[in-house]
Amino acid sequence: MKAKHAGGLRILVTGRDGQVGRELIASLAGLGEVTATGHEELDLASDYSIASVVRDLRPHLIVNAAAYTAVDKAESEPDFAWRVNADAVATLAAEAKTVGAAMIHYSTDYVFDGAKATPYVEEDATHPLSVYGKTKLAGEQALASAGIPYLALRTSWVYGAQGKNFLLTILRLAMERPELRIVDDQIGAPTWSRDIALATASIAERWRHSGFAAAKSGVYHVTAGGRTSWYGFASEAIRLRAQSAHARKLAHLTPISSAEYPTPAERPKNSQLDCGKLARVFDCTLPDWKASLEAVVHTLD
Ligand SMILES: NC(=O)c1ccc[n+]([C@@H]2O[C@H](COP(=O)([O-])OP(=O)(O)OC[C@H]3O[C@@H](n4cnc5c(N)ncnc54)[C@H](OP(=O)(O)O)[C@@H]3O)[C@@H](O)[C@H]2O)c1
Repeated sequence: MKAKHAGGLRILVTGRDGQVGRELIASLAGLGEVTATGHEELDLASDYSIASVVRDLRPHLIVNAAAYTAVDKAESEPDFAWRVNADAVATLAAEAKTVGAAMIHYSTDYVFDGAKATPYVEEDATHPLSVYGKTKLAGEQALASAGIPYLALRTSWVYGAQGKNFLLTILRLAMERPELRIVDDQIGAPTWSRDIALATASIAERWRHSGFAAAKSGVYHVTAGGRTSWYGFASEAIRLRAQSAHARKLAHLTPISSAEYPTPAERPKNSQLDCGKLARVFDCTLPDWKASLEAVVHTLD
């Protein structure tokens, strides 16, 4: 799939059908010619597939929105998660080096253990609790050591009007069941996929003006403003949804602890990411989570 803009950058976006990938196609279109690949055209589990797409396209910028994102499933297939989230990032970055491309990649709050009491800054020590978190951290590290200009954008709790995400699952279950029990002791920032894509475009535009300066390379935290728990997120989503003329009676929500909802992968209790560096270096700040959630819920009718 291609979106054209004369005289601009050649941009390769992977993960075209994912939450962030699908939003990037429109948001990056103003910067140049966007070629967005799905799993079939570019399979991160195949070095051959990565190399042939990159060498054929010779992009100026690669935006890697594809990833193995099944956090719980990763616990039972760590090798495959590692292949896609770590090894493939190394391969993609090596291919970027071959053609002289810069790279933007996404990472996660799950690189932290959540033991810190305040929001994490980029320099804080990492300590992932899950296989997924470990593979994503390894991907960041592979990118950092590849010797190319790069940005690793750590985001959190991604949702949107399409795709597999907590918001859509909760709203569906809230129609089907009288009560839902939702974890209330994990704190973070639900972040709309479109806000991530728009921020990526704004960052890419500024970065390009500095010639993809290596000095700006590094890890950045990119999440919505504000904070809440999964229970707070679900409560607000249901409150907004209940305003809809089409809404039926929705489930009553009960807050519970993580211990009452065991999952294969352990999640950090504190997922808050301090986004000050993004504001200072790229003059970019994402909207507050509540404002974006309202915009998304209102598109669901
Ligand atoms: N979702 C979150 O809550 C969250 C939180 C923090 C950070 N992030 C990070 O943000 C980025 C974007 O996440 P997202 O929510 O947009 O993910 P997503 O909706 O799960 O999309 C990921 C995409 O990657 C594709 N993919 C998976 N394995 C692939 C492979 N071997 N080759 C090529 N494509 C492959 C998937 O295609 P198939 O479905 O066909 O496999 C899917 O279209 C990821 O780096 C993720 O780790 C996400």
